Amino acid sequence: MKEVDLIPIPIDTLHIGTFVQDNIYAHDSSQLLIKAGTFIDDRILERVKHLNGGKPTVFLAGLPLKSLAMPQDEMEKRRKALEKATGYDKIADEAVDYLSETAKNKSVDPVKLKVISHMLSNWMGTASSAIVLTLVNALAPVDEYLQRHCVNTAFLNGLMGKWMGLPLEAVSRLALIGLLHDCGKALMPHSILNEHRRLTVVEYEVIKTHPLHSYELLSDFPEDVRFAARGHHEKMNGTGYPDGLANDAIPIESRITAISDIYDALVAQRAYKEPRSPFNVLALLKRIAGRELDERLVNLFLTNIPKELIGKQVVLSNGTVAYVREIDYDDIEYPIVNQFGERLKTNETLYCTSMY
Ligand SMILES: [Fe+2]
Repeated sequence: MKEVDLIPIPIDTLHIGTFVQDNIYAHDSSQLLIKAGTFIDDRILERVKHLNGGKPTVFLAGLPLKSLAMPQDEMEKRRKALEKATGYDKIADEAVDYLSETAKNKSVDPVKLKVISHMLSNWMGTASSAIVLTLVNALAPVDEYLQRHCVNTAFLNGLMGKWMGLPLEAVSRLALIGLLHDCGKALMPHSILNEHRRLTVVEYEVIKTHPLHSYELLSDFPEDVRFAARGHHEKMNGTGYPDGLANDAIPIESRITAISDIYDALVAQRAYKEPRSPFNVLALLKRIAGRELDERLVNLFLTNIPKELIGKQVVLSNGTVAYVREIDYDDIEYPIVNQFGERLKTNETLYCTSMY
């Protein structure tokens, strides 16, 4: 293998639960440490550290042929395989059921929701941040948006809880709020939800009623859970809806859900918009922190997410693939990437468009 094909990455970026997309070689490139397509578990991680002789760097093998983005159907195949391997597909199926039942019965049944919240709780107890972000950042079909958005918001809320050091019970409660926050959308007209253009002012006013619908549909749930769902579009400066609450009057669970909600909605592919890259969305969150979002919570998000993006593959705006190498907090939108073994600073003309 030519040296140019080997990309150095810090060994610290290999976590338990990381899905390795390309072969990983030892620091002196002499030995294959992890085969592509492997999930790292504690045994593999120990072995890799041992074989790498305590050195801080390993090498990722990126073949030049793979540096052009793979066809859409191949990406889709990989996404589905990952969702199956991680059990994401089962939770997403449950979310489809819960949303259709909610639309049919005009209420969310807490007993039925027990199964899915149990699955979520198990998931949050074992899944690594890296896996959650790989799943959330993967591009998926637009018609699956609502159910995936509920699941992804649940996962991101759960991660926030973990980063805050909360016990699993509180992490699971946050994940449940993420899952439920948009249930009111199940009552919105399909014609508006799946519209392939930007909404008109009138349509937007209809959509803006969904947090109130979420609150009503959750009538069998504790008041604090209902209120947390109701408040996920409130803004710190009081310009949000439906109640125009500001600062600490907005429940902390709503402030957390607002961040998870925006992140997932913007990285997703929607009927009326292209997906944004995680870096672009992180930069946006940073810009609106303080005014719209809770600054301390955004900082928590911004200090934890980039760690999980190092070493991951991204598609650049010229259609080629690169590896994320360094992310500077002060220039979060334009990370340094590695392509064909060369360091490359992304910028306004050559930037990351999506995760690979
Ligand atoms: Fe919403």
